[in-house]
Amino acid sequence: MSSNTIRVNEPLLDGNERKYLLECIDLGWISSEGPFVQRLEEGMARQVGRRYGVAVSNGSAALELAIAALGLGPGDEVILPSFTIISCVAAIVRAGATPVLVDSDPHTWNMNVDLVAETITPRTKAIMVVHIYGLPTDMDPLLRLTRQHGIRLIEDAAEMHGQTYRGQPCGSFGDLSIFSFYPNKLVTTGEGGMVLTDDPALAERCRSMRNLCFQKKRFVHEELGWNYRMSNLQAALGVAQLERLEHFVIRKREIGKLYNTLLRDVPGLQLPLAVTDYAENIYWVYGIVMEDTIPFDAEAAIARLEAQGIGTRPFFWPMHRQPVFHKMGLFQQTYCPVSESLANRGFYIPSGLGLTDCEIEQVAQAVRALFHESN
Ligand SMILES: Cc1ncc(COP(=O)(O)O)c(C=O)c1O
Repeated sequence: MSSNTIRVNEPLLDGNERKYLLECIDLGWISSEGPFVQRLEEGMARQVGRRYGVAVSNGSAALELAIAALGLGPGDEVILPSFTIISCVAAIVRAGATPVLVDSDPHTWNMNVDLVAETITPRTKAIMVVHIYGLPTDMDPLLRLTRQHGIRLIEDAAEMHGQTYRGQPCGSFGDLSIFSFYPNKLVTTGEGGMVLTDDPALAERCRSMRNLCFQKKRFVHEELGWNYRMSNLQAALGVAQLERLEHFVIRKREIGKLYNTLLRDVPGLQLPLAVTDYAENIYWVYGIVMEDTIPFDAEAAIARLEAQGIGTRPFFWPMHRQPVFHKMGLFQQTYCPVSESLANRGFYIPSGLGLTDCEIEQVAQAVRALFHESN
């Protein structure tokens, strides 16, 4: 890769991050016992409009806790999109429950909610909705289904800091909702995640399981938990980041709109859907899907852009195509053609908060050149 790479993501850490980190060091609060952890939990809960936040070591751990807190296990089915990160299915499988995959909508790239109703069986215990790449899933039909069938909702809002659905914050819909704070997210703690809920019993279960299920009599355990604690150092970063979330969302939208303008007339490209009747895209990442008229696939496009110093990432590889799950005997009859096409034809280009307008123009120029050449 050339030395002047425009990285696919560059976080912005120029608020109070340094100040709060130094506070941790000066006061000696570096473990999960420090005050920033609670500040981040309360700040996120306020932001999302929930009663409780439980900070954990990453978003994948948050999903594990959500599944475990609901007591899902053998015989229970959980419906979720095939087009997502492996953490979602891993959490279900590790609990001994059965993941049931649904294909995506080709326009929003989110789970096709029309397919969910026909996937529900008497064994369905939960739906895990995953909002993809900056545009929320259409929640009203899913909420109707959960009410009708008395099933639980886990909301994976890992990528949706600051986004809303019909004006209500993403992360406020699930019985349990989760976020990730990985550096490519709009709020980062380096590594980190959170579970949010309004249910005091679920919050308490998550707190206990995040901390090895310690009880009053220390080192005696009735249940197995994990050490999924977040450190005060991580939380300090998160508190500083959260202070600037509103600005971050504005900047992400500016980046998205600039790309929309610069790439609008390139033939053969599907750009992210800018707006639906329930949300305006926040462009967590700026995805591009190449239509069939383009004579090469996403892997080839990525290689050509990388050679020019443009950082990219492929789209998710669908869960029903994962060798690890085939070896477990899962998803062999699952058919999700839209997810497959997104995986083969989709990738995303730099859109981190540290990106300058000049770099955006450079990236767009390289993308235009690549696809004009091919037409
Ligand atoms: C939709 C979704 N869920 C879960 C995760 C897992 O979060 P983490 O990387 O913090 O474990 C991610 C990570 O990017 C994600 O995009």
